[in-house]
Amino acid sequence: MMRYFFLLFGVAVLLVVLIAGRRGDTSRRPPFEIFPDMDRQLKLRPQAAHGFFADGLSSRLPPPGTIARAEPFNVGGRAVYPFEDAPVNTGRETGTTNFVALNPLPVTARLLARGQQRYAIYCAPCHGATGEGNGITKKINAMAVVTSLHDKRVVELPDGDLFNTITLGKNLMGAYGPQIPVEDRWAIVAYVRALQLSHLGSVDDLSPEMRAKLK
Ligand code: HEC
Repeated sequence: MMRYFFLLFGVAVLLVVLIAGRRGDTSRRPPFEIFPDMDRQLKLRPQAAHGFFADGLSSRLPPPGTIARAEPFNVGGRAVYPFEDAPVNTGRETGTTNFVALNPLPVTARLLARGQQRYAIYCAPCHGATGEGNGITKKINAMAVVTSLHDKRVVELPDGDLFNTITLGKNLMGAYGPQIPVEDRWAIVAYVRALQLSHLGSVDDLSPEMRAKLK
């Protein structure tokens, strides 16, 4: 009885050593697989020459008329997809690193209202409701210096640069691209411009009728 036990025990130990014992070895030869884990199987590789379809590809381009990956924006009547190298997506002139001077979206009352609302949510906590950099984070000493959006330097930045700062952040300021959709970012840019104008405006900017009313 004991003999069989030792025999079986010996065989079991041998099996374990054979199967698992050399798992840490390195070798130039293909690995010896006890459990192949479906590593090798029949499948079509996306870039392989002999694909499934008559033209040799193994996948299809999106059929005409379908939408690839995401909804396009309507920029001046043209559909722009979110993955395109276009000013509306990057804040830069197509094919260059130059920031666009002006908001590529038409600045409408609707866009400004949206921008005001989004600014109040995402920017006012640090930059303050009027953009002077005195939001709640300053009051509770969570952020020492927050740039005033009325700094001459910021006023003179191109719109694309503001968009880029919102998207990727800058120094101490975090990135808001992951939280704020592209259209809303441009809405905020438009609203920041309105805030700046409200500080820079003078009586001369008013129409003659409005000026007369003021006097
Ligand atoms: C958590 C606080 C915080 C929030 C929220 C925040 N910012 Fe800032 N922002 C900062 C700080 C701090 C700086 C100064 C960064 C530096 O240069 O160190 C800054 C700088 C800037 C600048 C100047 C960039 C430059 O080129 O110098 C702009 C423009 C700006 N923020 C716009 C925005 C807008 C628009 C939003 C809302 C989408 C926003 N920020 C949200 C903290 C914040």
